[in-house]
Amino acid sequence: MVSTKQVILITGANAGIGYDTAALLAASSSNNHVIIGARNVAKGEKALAEIQARKPQGTLSFLQIDVTDDDSIAAAAKKVEADFGCIDVLINNAGISGTQGMAGTTASPTRENLRAVFETNVYGPTLVTEAVLPLLKASKSPKVINVSSGLGSITMRSDPNDPTYSVSFDVYRMSKSALNMLSACHSASFKKFGAKVWAYCPGFVVTNLTGEEDRQNRVNMGAESSETSAQGILEILEGKRDSEAGGFVTRYGKAYPW
Ligand SMILES: NC(=O)c1ccc[n+]([C@@H]2O[C@H](COP(=O)([O-])OP(=O)(O)OC[C@H]3O[C@@H](n4cnc5c(N)ncnc54)[C@H](OP(=O)(O)O)[C@@H]3O)[C@@H](O)[C@H]2O)c1
Repeated sequence: MVSTKQVILITGANAGIGYDTAALLAASSSNNHVIIGARNVAKGEKALAEIQARKPQGTLSFLQIDVTDDDSIAAAAKKVEADFGCIDVLINNAGISGTQGMAGTTASPTRENLRAVFETNVYGPTLVTEAVLPLLKASKSPKVINVSSGLGSITMRSDPNDPTYSVSFDVYRMSKSALNMLSACHSASFKKFGAKVWAYCPGFVVTNLTGEEDRQNRVNMGAESSETSAQGILEILEGKRDSEAGGFVTRYGKAYPW
């Protein structure tokens, strides 16, 4: 049976932006059911219990999903199908920077590092979306939000006046550019079943993306709360960015060039 609620699956929802998004979307409507995707069962169940303790209007559940593991992805898709019959909103949020600290990596990239970052940030969202495609097609109003980064913009990377021009993060940048292309491809090909797709930059916010020990450094560098990233996602779900579907959007109603 297809769920009557708006079913929202968020990958990497046990921490950071994914966690705040799960909490905000669950709080925002009694019509929302938020599935907290996490690769680690203990972390995912802890996040679920914490958010449920806030007594949100909406409902939540936990789903084990490691976006680098095909068996985990397949089992997760099967479970969502059995439990809900559809996915209305897929938020491909799980991601890694592949580096410790905001200085980014200046060393030569290794094959191992390239593989790890692309496995999570590119192959992950590609294969998760593929696995849940029938569930998106079962929705009346399917939406896919790929959590990208302004660091993936080739236009901004090429601009010496861009504030991030001195930031290296080459491998991470490459992975998010690839994710942007996935978003553009899916936006074009998913139109035939009515799905809207956005690449979304959540802004520079305080999370564990460059290591837990780097959080204070992020604060010192002017990073904002990851709750602002969640707010931007809520605005997409509220239809406020519908005219920008197929594009690369960020918080505060702004957009980025590809
Ligand atoms: N923070 C920023 O300033 C910023 C800026 C631009 C874009 N982003 C993007 O925002 C997204 C969320 O990052 P964040 O900043 O919230 O970082 P975070 O606090 O490190 O959270 C990342 C989440 O992804 C999960 N994850 C990592 N690898 C995974 C895998 N193989 N399978 C499933 N889950 C996995 C992590 O799980 P574990 O807890 O198990 O590691 C964690 O829940 C990423 O795509 C990132 O690139 C962040």
